[in-house]
Amino acid sequence: MNRDPIRVALIGCGAIAELGHAPALSALADEARVTSVVDTADHRRNLLGSRLGVPAAHRHHDVDVLLAAGDPVDLAVLVLPPRSTPYALSALLEAGTRVLAEKPMTTDVTEAALIADRARRHELGVVHNYLHRSDVRQALARLGEGQGGEVRFLRLEQPDSGHFPGAGDSPHWRRSDAAAGCLVDNAYHWVYVATELAASPVVRVTARTARPEEGAAVDLALILLEHANGVLSSVQSSWCAPSAVPVLEVHTTRGTLRLEGDCGPCTALPSTAFASVPAREAAVEPSYTALYREVFAALRDGRPFAASADDCATVLRVLTAADTSARTGGSVSLDGLVAARPAT
Ligand SMILES: NC(=O)c1ccc[n+]([C@@H]2O[C@H](COP(=O)([O-])OP(=O)(O)OC[C@H]3O[C@@H](n4cnc5c(N)ncnc54)[C@H](O)[C@@H]3O)[C@@H](O)[C@H]2O)c1
Repeated sequence: MNRDPIRVALIGCGAIAELGHAPALSALADEARVTSVVDTADHRRNLLGSRLGVPAAHRHHDVDVLLAAGDPVDLAVLVLPPRSTPYALSALLEAGTRVLAEKPMTTDVTEAALIADRARRHELGVVHNYLHRSDVRQALARLGEGQGGEVRFLRLEQPDSGHFPGAGDSPHWRRSDAAAGCLVDNAYHWVYVATELAASPVVRVTARTARPEEGAAVDLALILLEHANGVLSSVQSSWCAPSAVPVLEVHTTRGTLRLEGDCGPCTALPSTAFASVPAREAAVEPSYTALYREVFAALRDGRPFAASADDCATVLRVLTAADTSARTGGSVSLDGLVAARPAT
């Protein structure tokens, strides 16, 4: 098998490219090398270009310039604001380049379904990095061992005091783009995590949202997910809860697991079935490193990598249902049926 480093073009050199992607790619330097960087903001592409050792000739303004330059690329990693992602995604796939796209690859559920229909699975993957968090992986492993009974109730409640600030041309796109907001930015992750922990798809959504002013992006989302197997998940995301304490818990028929963050453990609460069985040691590394490790192995084997575009479209359907529920006051089934408003 060819063991040459995988040549990566990092497209978007903003905040999470610096804090998440670049450290993971550096940690896996035996596997992959960043050979091109792209960003409309000169200072951002030069910052990451210098940090990752990319020569000036391979630092580009946008994806069209990258493609015109003909840099050899095995994997393009898209780390752009969601509004800029679909154009770059289409141009790269059209040029025959495999793409790993940050979530969400678009905020529009119809566009997501179209991308999912058109893209071949082994050419496009989406970053669902929370599935690679040490605490989530440990919880999934412990549930998979069957020692704790059946999952009944998930609390994935992580209100924040503010939004994660970007670092490039438009650092506050999360608030200035009304289609972004904390539903798409934060609750997104907990929807796919809930689906995996419950081992069951979401079939019905009830939600309430709030925004600081008319026309602004949603900064508070309280969501109840009903899964096909009867599990209920409570998801909370916000940018207006100073000093809130996160509650990430899995409650089963025989016990409770508590998730303690990326690089943190999943602990069994005392006096529950889980507590009697020691957790298996899991390699503790940041979720982005764990994600890339799997992506590179899959690429070398010619297998599909990361989450599918369909997975992304499914999360966006749930979030669209949450938005509809918040606007109509009812529950929304994923069949698209709007349930009757609750009795008043
Ligand atoms: N998976 C996660 O845990 C996670 C965490 C944070 C962000 N994200 C996602 O990563 C993406 C980037 O988020 P961020 O916080 O780094 O934002 P950011 O604003 O800091 O970074 C985006 C970068 O893209 C550049 N850019 C914008 N449009 C461009 C274009 N058309 N061509 C080239 N460059 C362009 C900007 O100058 C900026 O440097 C978003 O999609 C976000 O949802 C995911």
